Amino acid sequence: MNDLTQPFKRLPVAVIGTGSYVPERRLTNSDLEKMVNTSNEWILARTGIEERRIAAADETTSDMATSAAKAAIENAGITPEDIDLIIVATITPDTYTPATSCYVQAKIGAVNAAAFDISAACSGFLFGIKTAVQYIGCGQAKTVLVIASEKLSHIVNWEDRSTCVLFGDGSGAAVLQVGTGLDEDPAVLATDIGSDGKLTDLLIVPGGGTAMPTTEVNIHEKLYTLAMRGNEVFRHAVQHMRDSALSLMERTGLTADDIALVVPHQANLRIINAVTQRLGIPPEKVFINLQKYGNTSGAAVAIAFDEARRSDRVKKGDIILLVAFGAGLTWSSAAIRI
Ligand code: ACO
Repeated sequence: MNDLTQPFKRLPVAVIGTGSYVPERRLTNSDLEKMVNTSNEWILARTGIEERRIAAADETTSDMATSAAKAAIENAGITPEDIDLIIVATITPDTYTPATSCYVQAKIGAVNAAAFDISAACSGFLFGIKTAVQYIGCGQAKTVLVIASEKLSHIVNWEDRSTCVLFGDGSGAAVLQVGTGLDEDPAVLATDIGSDGKLTDLLIVPGGGTAMPTTEVNIHEKLYTLAMRGNEVFRHAVQHMRDSALSLMERTGLTADDIALVVPHQANLRIINAVTQRLGIPPEKVFINLQKYGNTSGAAVAIAFDEARRSDRVKKGDIILLVAFGAGLTWSSAAIRI
């Protein structure tokens, strides 16, 4: 789903601030060697991950989201009262209901904001960015806070070596407002999202919802934890991230040369290399932090975007291409001039 058809003149939209947060506790590959039958060598060679962060037992998804949000608000130079919409992307909400975004609203004091959650797994942050662009572009909101926050350690099966080595906890946020519309000024140039609901089984937490209510047996069999067919997810991830990024580049007329930095979903170094090679993007233009945090689902691209935007690898006026992929299946991309 792209924004090709524009029935009326939309307002330009810009990212004016970003922030991120990761918990203090580090879980290294050698820590995992003591928990499951794995090795630092296997994890490094197959994924590129060295360590991941694990939230404290009493640290919620909204706590992490709040920290990232406060950093983004400060970076944007706005006050919480300026925000009129909060979107939280998460698959590990504080509670079934209310929405995690409502907890965040209270914790940051964004008294003028409406708040809702979206669920698009690793694509969630860019689904949120696209939603924010629609609200602002159509004049329905002036300032939107988009947050992706995950406590994946809560839904990981710590006895399953094929998944537990991959995931971590963290949060990333962005503040969006109407842009100037001037060339070289910050702007969200284009966005793309997509889903394939025929492939829900590839990456799923099967239990705990209405399809498979929580029972003692289901709890015992760990059916409320993440199950993944890694090889198939890998194949679809490469194809859809490439296709989504390419469609966006075609629509905007951007070439690989025009892109200063690609910020991909931080799931697996081999996926990132395969996607960026197919896009003709050289390694020095690819931002990678998965060695530090592992895969934090929707938060991964949000944290990476914040770190990239604050780094000396980009400067004002540069274009960053973000691209993500996750359960659903879902995929998403955005071209953002910073
Ligand atoms: N340590 C040691 N051996 C392992 C481990 C481990 N942690 N995990 C699996 N293995 C073994 C397997 O059992 C298998 O052994 P076998 O051949 O004896 O059966 C062997 O390693 C190879 O397993 P594969 O699954 O084929 O390994 P692969 O190279 O595909 O890597 C991985 C697995 C890392 C999971 C990869 O498939 C992957 O990254 N997939 C994509 C995951 C992803 O991107 N998810 C994104 C979305 S996440 C979200 O939306 C929340």
